[in-house]
Amino acid sequence: MIISQSQNPVPIINNCIESSQPFVIPTETVYGLAASIYDMTAIKRIFEYKKRPFFDPLIVHISSHNNAKQLTDYNSPLYTKLAEVFWPGPLTLVLPKKQIISDLITSGLDTVGIRMPNHPMALKLISFSNAPLAAPSANLFGQTSPTNAIDVEVDFPFLHIFDGGSCNIGIESTVLRIQKLPDGSEELSLLRPGFIKKSEIDQILKKNHFNYSWAKNIIKSHSPGHIKHHYMPKKPIIFLESENIEIKKIWDSIVKDFENSPETVDGVTIVKPQKITSYQELIFSDDPILASRELYSTLRDFSKGPDDILVFKKRSYMNTEAWEAFLERLSKASSLKYS
Ligand code: TXA
Ligand code: MG
Repeated sequence: MIISQSQNPVPIINNCIESSQPFVIPTETVYGLAASIYDMTAIKRIFEYKKRPFFDPLIVHISSHNNAKQLTDYNSPLYTKLAEVFWPGPLTLVLPKKQIISDLITSGLDTVGIRMPNHPMALKLISFSNAPLAAPSANLFGQTSPTNAIDVEVDFPFLHIFDGGSCNIGIESTVLRIQKLPDGSEELSLLRPGFIKKSEIDQILKKNHFNYSWAKNIIKSHSPGHIKHHYMPKKPIIFLESENIEIKKIWDSIVKDFENSPETVDGVTIVKPQKITSYQELIFSDDPILASRELYSTLRDFSKGPDDILVFKKRSYMNTEAWEAFLERLSKASSLKYS
């Protein structure tokens, strides 16, 4: 059920914590399905409710800079600078974890993803919980993330959902791994693009003359959550890499490709149409910030329409860094792609 902003959250949070029930918190990116990092029963329920495989680690949410010390011993001026500039905000830092953090949260990795969300209600709920909160996006595994309380309720009507309004950013945080190299310099890996861009991170770090480099390749085992399909709405999306492709001309290939495509990839069910007779083109703002904010609610809304498939055409103005995260999400949300 949805808890309105006028209700006192403290007794509700206390009840959830006492009964090891995960609850849903708003953040500036997407809503999260949260539980104390010290309650393994509740953490297991997050995986169970989401139908999420245990190989995909959870991000831990904190409400103060000091909280991070419960999670990692990592210490460097570069890390301190990024946390100071971007927290609270949509940046998750992946750092060596403290022993105390359960392998269930980190999927057995020796690192933990940490983020301080920039949302007043999220910060209050974390601090009322008296513990950092592990929270993946509050959607079923592989499906579209929710950016308002009503969308969460569709999948999880039995949970307490704290309503913090529509998410201002609308797509998940940038995930950045920081690692010390033997020569003492630091290596950064962008594990997931997000609202905070690589160039913004570079700008801050260069200004402060840090000794760092970007990893050439992302090592698969460092980012187990990186799977091919994700964020899928109820209707299949066809991703056209260029605005010059005419959907009518490739219609027969689409029908055939759906027949031949696998049912699941990496455990995610590929969304397929029951029949293919009609399509609707997805429409987004030409401003990347607005388009990202509306992305998931647009996918959900368009899925309710009468047509069999949704079509997204990548526009030439989208070939900039500002569109990277938006395109990454839409590409993974698509069942088929044509270039
Ligand atoms: O904006 C966000 O990050 C939202 C809100 C709720 O904070 N959370 C979110 O969580 O998107 P989730 O679970 O849907 O995505 C977390 C991503 C996954 O791809 C996971 O693999 C990666 O972060 N991740 C978490 N911990 C990691 C770690 N220790 N090493 C590498 N990747 C990690
Ligand atoms: Mg997610």
